[in-house]
Amino acid sequence: MNASTRSDRIIIFDTTLRDGEQCPGATLNVEEKLLIARQLARLGVDVIESGFAFASAGDFEAVNKIAREVGTPDGPIICSLARTRKEDIKTAAEAIKPAAKSRIHTFIATSDIHLKYKLKKSRSEVIAIAEEMVSYAKSFVDDVEFSPEDAGRSDPEFLYQVLEKAIAAGATTVNIPDTVGYTTPSEFGALIKGIKDNVPNIDKAIISVHGHNDLGLAVANFLEAVKNGARQLECTINGIGERAGNAALEELVMALYVRRQYFNPYLGRAVDSEEPLTKIDSHQIYKTSRLVSSLTGMMVQRNKAIVGANAFAHESGIHQDGVLKNKLTYEIMDAESIGLTENQIVLGKHSGRNALGTRLQELGLELSETDLNKVFVKFKELADKKKEISDWDLFAIVNDEIQAIPQLFALELVQVSCGSNARPTATVTLRTPAGEELTDAAIGTGPVDAIYRAINRVVNVPNELIEFSVQSVTEGIDAIGKVKIKVQHEDQVYSGQAANTDIIVASAQAYINALNCLYAALQNQEKRSPLTAQIV
Ligand code: KIV
Ligand code: ZN
Repeated sequence: MNASTRSDRIIIFDTTLRDGEQCPGATLNVEEKLLIARQLARLGVDVIESGFAFASAGDFEAVNKIAREVGTPDGPIICSLARTRKEDIKTAAEAIKPAAKSRIHTFIATSDIHLKYKLKKSRSEVIAIAEEMVSYAKSFVDDVEFSPEDAGRSDPEFLYQVLEKAIAAGATTVNIPDTVGYTTPSEFGALIKGIKDNVPNIDKAIISVHGHNDLGLAVANFLEAVKNGARQLECTINGIGERAGNAALEELVMALYVRRQYFNPYLGRAVDSEEPLTKIDSHQIYKTSRLVSSLTGMMVQRNKAIVGANAFAHESGIHQDGVLKNKLTYEIMDAESIGLTENQIVLGKHSGRNALGTRLQELGLELSETDLNKVFVKFKELADKKKEISDWDLFAIVNDEIQAIPQLFALELVQVSCGSNARPTATVTLRTPAGEELTDAAIGTGPVDAIYRAINRVVNVPNELIEFSVQSVTEGIDAIGKVKIKVQHEDQVYSGQAANTDIIVASAQAYINALNCLYAALQNQEKRSPLTAQIV
């Protein structure tokens, strides 16, 4: 058996922390990425694309930390993305070094449209770069993945040539991206078959697929690719990612599980073979979905396949009657197979630190002693306001407490007055980095605008609010509201988030968090004169 079909199971390559994190609003800090990476390892993914190490110091740190802490000998392969540039590849190699098993994933576009307008390079130049950079990556690691970006719109004949050279230079996986989500399932399947039939040394590499969901076809395209020889699937939890997102891991895994008899023969197995097609522990799917949704702030739509709130709910009387008589009438899979259990522990006012710690661990949230103590304090505060604390609440509290926010300005008080026929007015008191307490007030178009204006009068750093969102973490009048914001200073963007049962307080705290990041960056750049001189 050759390498492209040698894997007699499907390799799951998770790119939630790289392509998934690229989608607007899904920015994660290093600690959050680490929590997700640990959960992905528990889920059983084969490869974690942990980031694009060259992109920023934060990305490097995240990739490096994940390599060190999650890249254990029996853990997943830790991968970093790198453009076909020496500096990118070298940085990626440095970042993934601590992992027991590591991979560099390098890419260059191959479609004529990208060559002409983006790269301004000829086909022969692109081939030469791919060849040279794959072999450069190979000088650092054995496991090198090469992607011809926009393969879905590339001339197949040119693609065959690029792939042949990349494999000859040492690529062990060749990944075929439908970067713009343009292809249809039969076209994508034919593209994979064409590669298998026309790239002379394809037996020396695993064929992988990567695809975006612009036409809602990513998962269908991948399944067709599997039938035609693809053995690695690049996907994200909840399908998050650029624009309409990436192929959703949970949908692919469950399709390959529920319909295993259909797919078995394509992997050379007997139709009724019960040997799993992936290494994923499906019972971890729901937990992983919730963790990613909570930390990224990307809510899962109710009717989302597999992990949506309605995915296993039967509303119609006829369906309910059928399910009560026999589940198989309307259910093709068991809710328990994705880890959705009914008997969840409900935490409340009387729950102790132990119960909290146990529940957090069950949710995949392994916290240090210090973080657990901080979370416990917040948990008790919330339990005084809310009778039952749900898992969603716990995610929100943890999310809030583990943010690595520089403690410069602290919110001491926020008060607003607003309503019909009233001018929204806010008063804030902040503790400055110098320890002074300053109070100011402002009028705005609404309560949040008034608060932000009042805060700006104290902090006095020019910035523009470019994103503001508030989401209810659970249902009910006592629900926690989670505020996520982004502010821009010059061409840098800083994010902040906060959760509170009072959305006014959450809005003020999220803004302070973002401003603290901005202020710390300015301090680091030494662009500003000493802090205290800036405070009015
Ligand atoms: O969509 C894409 O083409 C990518 C590549 C970097 C693999 O994300
Ligand atoms: Zn992509």
